[in-house]
Amino acid sequence: MKIAVLTGSPRKNGNSAYLAEQFIKGAEEKGHEVFRFDCAFKQVEPCRACNRCGMNGPCLFNDDFQELRPHLIDADMVVFATPMYYFSIPAQMKRVIDRFYAINGQIKDTPKKSALLMTYADTSRKEADPMLAHYHTLMDYLGWTSVGEVVASGVWTAGSVRNTDYPQQAYLLGKSL
Ligand SMILES: Cc1cc2nc3c(=O)[nH]c(=O)nc-3n(C[C@H](O)[C@H](O)[C@H](O)COP(=O)(O)O)c2cc1C
Repeated sequence: MKIAVLTGSPRKNGNSAYLAEQFIKGAEEKGHEVFRFDCAFKQVEPCRACNRCGMNGPCLFNDDFQELRPHLIDADMVVFATPMYYFSIPAQMKRVIDRFYAINGQIKDTPKKSALLMTYADTSRKEADPMLAHYHTLMDYLGWTSVGEVVASGVWTAGSVRNTDYPQQAYLLGKSL
């Protein structure tokens, strides 16, 4: 499979980046081809709603989204590896998702798989509900099938996820594909 992994954190050695690394390790060991796009380190303009693309065409902006665009279209699977910011997807990743608009016609109702690897500081599982609802609603809309979710709670400082078994869950998810 061709797998596109989007990361959302501005912390290079943070928790969600480590889950992404472990997922990629498992997936590559199984022979899958992975393309990683670190949203927080790319120049991607927020969608301006000019509608020039008509949800299926060239975008007004010629920025780093162009790098991701063909990989998203070709991907058999898309993975979102991200921290939670104020009960939601951080702006760094959301502005990339909003740019899906220009390729909506090419990615919606395609038989893609997806996964979510998320990290947050609170220890209550309930706090993850809004972000999980967002993810599931988006996957339902796109017609993609979620094949796994690693919901890593109770991790605050960069790297603290290494002391939990969530990295192993992410690795096994990649390995199971
Ligand atoms: C701007 C910001 C907002 C955050 N909002 C939340 C939140 O709503 N709930 C929570 O439990 N943790 C919150 N956190 C903590 C992060 O989700 C947590 O530290 C996470 O493990 C960071 O992942 P990373 O290391 O991949 O960046 C927030 C952190 C930042 C910087």
